[in-house]
Amino acid sequence: CGITAYLGSKEAAEILLGGLARLEYRGYDSAGIAICNKGKMSVKKKVGKVKELKSIASTVEGNIGIGHTRWATHGEPNERNAHPHLSSDSGFALVHNGIIENFIPLRESLMRKGYKFVSETDTEVLVKLIEDVMKSTGLSLEEAVRQALSQVVGAYGICICSRDDPDILIAARLGSPLILGIGEQEWFVASDASAFLEYTRHVVHLNDGEMVVIRRNVGYQVSTTQGTTLNPAIVELEGTLDQVKAEEQEEMQIEKGGFKHFMLKEIMEQPVALENCMRGRVKQLVGPPDNQFTLLQRLQVLLSLEREILTSFQSAKRIIICACGTSWHAGLVGEYMLESLCKIPVEIEYASEFRYRSVVLRPDEDIVMVISQSGETADTLAALRHAKQAGCLVIGICNTVGSTIARETDGGIYLHAGPEIGVASTKAFTAQVLVLAMLALRIAQGRTIPDDEYKMLVKELSKLPSRITKILSENEAKICEIAKVYRYAHHCLFLGRGYNYPVALEGALKMKEISYIHAEGYPAAEMKHGPIALIDNLMPVVFIAMQDSIYDKVKSNIMEVRARKGCVIAITDEGNTELESLCEYVIHIPKVSECVSPILTVVPLQLLSYHIAVMRGCDVDMPRNLAKSVTTE
Ligand code: G6P
Repeated sequence: CGITAYLGSKEAAEILLGGLARLEYRGYDSAGIAICNKGKMSVKKKVGKVKELKSIASTVEGNIGIGHTRWATHGEPNERNAHPHLSSDSGFALVHNGIIENFIPLRESLMRKGYKFVSETDTEVLVKLIEDVMKSTGLSLEEAVRQALSQVVGAYGICICSRDDPDILIAARLGSPLILGIGEQEWFVASDASAFLEYTRHVVHLNDGEMVVIRRNVGYQVSTTQGTTLNPAIVELEGTLDQVKAEEQEEMQIEKGGFKHFMLKEIMEQPVALENCMRGRVKQLVGPPDNQFTLLQRLQVLLSLEREILTSFQSAKRIIICACGTSWHAGLVGEYMLESLCKIPVEIEYASEFRYRSVVLRPDEDIVMVISQSGETADTLAALRHAKQAGCLVIGICNTVGSTIARETDGGIYLHAGPEIGVASTKAFTAQVLVLAMLALRIAQGRTIPDDEYKMLVKELSKLPSRITKILSENEAKICEIAKVYRYAHHCLFLGRGYNYPVALEGALKMKEISYIHAEGYPAAEMKHGPIALIDNLMPVVFIAMQDSIYDKVKSNIMEVRARKGCVIAITDEGNTELESLCEYVIHIPKVSECVSPILTVVPLQLLSYHIAVMRGCDVDMPRNLAKSVTTE
């Protein structure tokens, strides 16, 4: 989501709305602005596009204001949840990017003091917290912001304007970008300079833990949120003005954040997506118990799971997972994890099959879990309704907040992976598997796995983002080389065993979807019951061969392919050199526990299919015949 803010002598509405339109590439589902003028605060919000907001907001007068495009993380996309959010008396307004992790205890304590909340957002908690600090201490808005931020755990980029003091604009950042633009007696703040480059190229980049206070007729002052004055350099941005004025084609390029395709952008942003997915969840699991949290609050914060739901999982006799496409592959990894870590029998079902065959459902014993990035897939939705009708508890794992599936399930877990635009799913897959791992660990904790193993696995989860960064930076050149060699292949095999069998399926699906090369994913040992007949010296065979409990068996399968002159590409652990002599290419990735390895092993496969598709001239983001969200049966 995006932030814009303005203080100067021009009409703020035009600048804010223009800036928001520039930030549309960030993906959003609602937008809003707040403008202060003559002791009045006007707030306009709209679900949908900035264009629609424009139709109701462009005539609002005033020369100080803030604007926001929101992509829902807490609470569904509607006008109540859209930013800006207001203090109780509408004295000041705030826009926020990021996630306030400890919003539940903060909200409860504010509610006890009598504060009323109109939205379900974490952002409104921050507004009311600032208001409470002001009321209880008599501090100025600026000082109250500092104090409130010191109580907040999480990530934020915020901007505040005040009806009672329309000559001041305050912004602060921690983990969510903000940039200050400096014009002639006018100032801009935005999450991305493209929002105001039309007006100025002189900028100050705010760093984490910094705040800027802008005063009309005075100027701006940057300081740390603790209050230490800073004197950061003003930077002149070059060459970007042309970009801002560029034709649509170039704008699309900005939308992709400089990447050639959304798919590549989404592959590359997986470290951040997983970081966000774990935010407030894994840290709480690793860190010392936080006294602010009651047990129920902790559970909600960890995985948005009500206590009764966790108890239901722990007493379930069976879990049935329903999903489609890539989400089904994530579900298959989930089956392996939940059975191994939680000792609960799990069935994984294609949602489209589940709804039409006579599955035996036992509401007292079974929990049905639906997984869907979009939360709108028709078959998955139908499976959900079918399970509910049978009386089962249905839990959802979705990326899109407020989607139909998210609304109709009895409870669930959001991915927080950010919008996924490329039709072929990438970051949603790794985030889905991560959520399933967190869930499995939460269910198993203190019950079916020893504490040491639990702690070790939680630590492994927290290291995933940096490990993916390493894979992406160290392997892309080699993967491009492999892609160049095999780009004209007609067929391709992906083989893996155990936790990496679902990854073989996902690798093959990615290849089919975007490069139109016929690809099959198979359990490596099953190969000899059929696919082995296809192997010749033209057939690339991709093996996921991590040094895990079944590595030796996978090695034997590699030999079998080798004996038939197949061309082997292997994904294995760093430091494993023995596959070099057996394979055409070996890609090394960091060593990791078996059960979370799919989150890493899939990454080179995403890149491989991406580069092959690009070299074949395919429309990577919108492959023929496919849709991002399949809302028909
Ligand atoms: C479509 C998309 C796939 C996706 C599948 C399930 O086929 O092209 O990328 O995996 O739907 O989508 P969902 O939103 O339910 O995860």
